[in-house]
Amino acid sequence: MKTIIEPFRIKSIEPIRMTTKEERKALLRKAKHNLFKLHAEDVIIDLLTDSGTSAMSAAQWGAIMQGDESYAGAASFFRFEAAVKDLMDFKHIIPTHQGRAAEHLLFSLIAKPGHVIPSNTHFDTTRGNIEAAGAEALDLLIAEGRDPALDHPFKGNLDLVALEDLLETRCEDVPAVMITITNNAGGGQPVSLENIRDASKLARKYGKPFFIDGCRFAENAWFIKLREEGQKDRSIKDIVRDTFALADGMTMSAKKDAFANIGGWLALNNDALADEARTRLIQTEGFPTYGGLAGRDLDAIAQGLSEIVDEDYLRYRVRTNAYIAERLDDLGIPVVKPAGGHAVFINARSFLSHIPPLQYPGQTLVCALYEEGGIRSCEIGTVMFGRKPDGSEAPAMMDLVRLAMPRRVYTQSHADYVVEVCAAVSEKRGDLKGMRITREAPMMRHFTADFEPLP
Ligand code: F0G
Repeated sequence: MKTIIEPFRIKSIEPIRMTTKEERKALLRKAKHNLFKLHAEDVIIDLLTDSGTSAMSAAQWGAIMQGDESYAGAASFFRFEAAVKDLMDFKHIIPTHQGRAAEHLLFSLIAKPGHVIPSNTHFDTTRGNIEAAGAEALDLLIAEGRDPALDHPFKGNLDLVALEDLLETRCEDVPAVMITITNNAGGGQPVSLENIRDASKLARKYGKPFFIDGCRFAENAWFIKLREEGQKDRSIKDIVRDTFALADGMTMSAKKDAFANIGGWLALNNDALADEARTRLIQTEGFPTYGGLAGRDLDAIAQGLSEIVDEDYLRYRVRTNAYIAERLDDLGIPVVKPAGGHAVFINARSFLSHIPPLQYPGQTLVCALYEEGGIRSCEIGTVMFGRKPDGSEAPAMMDLVRLAMPRRVYTQSHADYVVEVCAAVSEKRGDLKGMRITREAPMMRHFTADFEPLP
C-alpha cells in the first residue's frame, strides 16, 4: 500500500483547546513574543520540541505500575540497565534526570579551560555545559551540512579532515571527540555508520575517547538502513549495536528515542571516570541506581527502548516529516533538504530574506506561525546561537525554524493543518517585520528573552 499509516490505535486522548487569531495576538504580546512563555493550553499544535512529549504506549503505562521505588538497588534500575545494554553495550550505565545532566557530569569531569571539544554540531545544552567548564565547543560539520537546500544522504557527517587537522595541531587540548546522532541543530540530519567509524578511528589514533550524543539513535539507524550501502538488509538493532560499539561512552536524553517523558543516562567504559561520575552523581542527581529518576521512569525507559527500534514505527515517523517537507517545498517554502528525522526545518533566512539575521527572521517566523494557526515551533538560529560568551553578537550559521514532531502524538490531518498554516503565512511573508530583543540572559537566552516587533 502507498499510504503509510500511523502504526498504532489511540485509546486515550487529550483535547486541544481552539483559539482565535485575535486571542493569539494578545497572547503573543503577553508572552513578549517568546513562545517558551506561552501556556501550553493556548497552543493548538505544539511542535516546540520532540523532547519529553512522546505518547507512551499501553505497555509503558503498564511498566510504570511495576516501578520499584527502593532507594538503592531497585529492580527498575536493573531492567533499565539491561535494556540499555541490549542496544548500547557499555560497561557503566549511569542514569540521570535528563540528557543535559549526563552532559554536565561528563564535561565537568573531562573539560578544562583551554580545552576544545570537537563534534559534528553540539546541541545548545552540550555547548552550554562545555562552555561552563571553561572549554570551547567546536562544530566541525561537513560543508554539505551547512547548505540547507542541498540534498545529501548524511548531512550530519563530521568533517574528518578538519578533525584530523585539529588533532594534529592541538592534540594536547582535546580531551575527547564527540558526535551527535542525528544532528539536531543542523536540521535533524543523520550521520553515516562509515563517518562514525572513521571519526572513532581518528579519535583512537590520537588516543582520545570518543563519545556519542545518542538522543535520536533509532532515527539515525533508520536513515543508515535506508541510505547507506550494504545496510538495507540489516536490523535496526544490529545497526544501533554497531554504532555504539565504536564509542567509549555516550550521553543520552531518554526524552527522545526512548519514548519517555523524562530521563537520560551517561554510559562509560572507563572505570575510573565512571567512579568519578557516580560520586558527582550522588552530589547532584541521586544514588547511582536511580540518578534523579523515579523507579517507574526507569521502567518506562526500558519498555520504550524495546519499542523505538520497531521498523513500522520508524518508517511512519520519518515519513511524517518528509510528507510535510515535500508539501512545503511544493509551496515554494524553503526547507532543509532532505527532511530530518524528528523535525522539518524551514530556512527562515531565505524565507524572510528581507529581514537581516540580527533582526531574527526565525523569531519572526515562529511568531507568525503561532498567530496564524496556533502552531508553536522553535527558532534555531541567531537567537539561539548568536550571542557569544563575551556578550557580543553575530549571525548564526543558519536561521532555521524547527517544527519538531512529538513521537506518536499527531496524525496525518494535523500534518495537513500544519502545511495549510505555513501556506497562509507564506502568502503574507513580505509584510512580516523583524524583531529586537529587549531583555536577555547572558547564556541560553532563547528560553527567557523578551522580544518586540520592529516598526
Ligand atoms: N543533545 C541533543 C542532540 C538534544 O537534542 C538535546 C535536547 C539534548 C542533548 C539535551 O537533552 O533535554 O534531556 O537535557 N534537545 C531538546 C530539543 C531539548 O528540543 O531539541 P535533555
